Amino acid sequence: MRTPIIAANWKMHKTVAEAKDFCRAFLASYEPDGGEVVLCPPFTALGAVAELLQGTEVKLGAQDLFWEEKGAYTGEIAPGMLVDVGCHYVIIGHSERRGYFGETDADVNRKVRAALAHDLKPIICLGESLEQREAGQTEKVVTAQVRSAYEGIDASLAAGTVIAYEPIWAIGTGRNATPEEANRVIGLIRQTIADIYDEETAGQIRIQYGGSVNKENIAQFMEQPEIDGALVGGASLDPAGFAVIARGGRS
Ligand code: 13P
Repeated sequence: MRTPIIAANWKMHKTVAEAKDFCRAFLASYEPDGGEVVLCPPFTALGAVAELLQGTEVKLGAQDLFWEEKGAYTGEIAPGMLVDVGCHYVIIGHSERRGYFGETDADVNRKVRAALAHDLKPIICLGESLEQREAGQTEKVVTAQVRSAYEGIDASLAAGTVIAYEPIWAIGTGRNATPEEANRVIGLIRQTIADIYDEETAGQIRIQYGGSVNKENIAQFMEQPEIDGALVGGASLDPAGFAVIARGGRS
């Protein structure tokens, strides 16, 4: 049985004060139910959120990292720095990073390796654009992204990673993939993992859906057999709403 994992990607939202307010309100209304919940604030709020999450079951994640240990890389954050501030998870390869900041599949692979070398669990984002979808290339695109992300990574480490299937056309648009369609593509992703490694590893990796998930539709995604959770953007900014999402929509 895979433990469900629901993660909040706040993107470039919330000051330190706003992040603290969120944590207090969220922790007051969220009732843990055995699933894993991860908050991924911007770098500037990681420390404050880490303090408020101490002693709770909610984990901390970052939204990106750089693969080098340290050095003259102005503006970048090293894996060890994320561990130091209390992160367990790190989002890697979000389509906004790929699209706006030119991150390539090879960069994503380097970042995944760097995270794993520091015991940080990567949440590896991938998904097709609308153009690719309409050209019937979804399978080809996501398969290539998966293969590249896991290049040179042992099965034992791969098993602990998380994948977020986020079709680009569904992000921030209010137009989510249907649960059945998301389940189908996630099944394909799991099959690719089985092809690279084996069935056991494929059965252990957790795969989330992301793209316009909210408190009204989360339960339908969680009902799908291949979907192990969600990576939530806009709807994760509201503490009461995210407390519902974090329980998979069960009240
Ligand atoms: P939305 O939930 O705002 O569509 O964003 C999804 C996402 O990009 C999460 O990483």
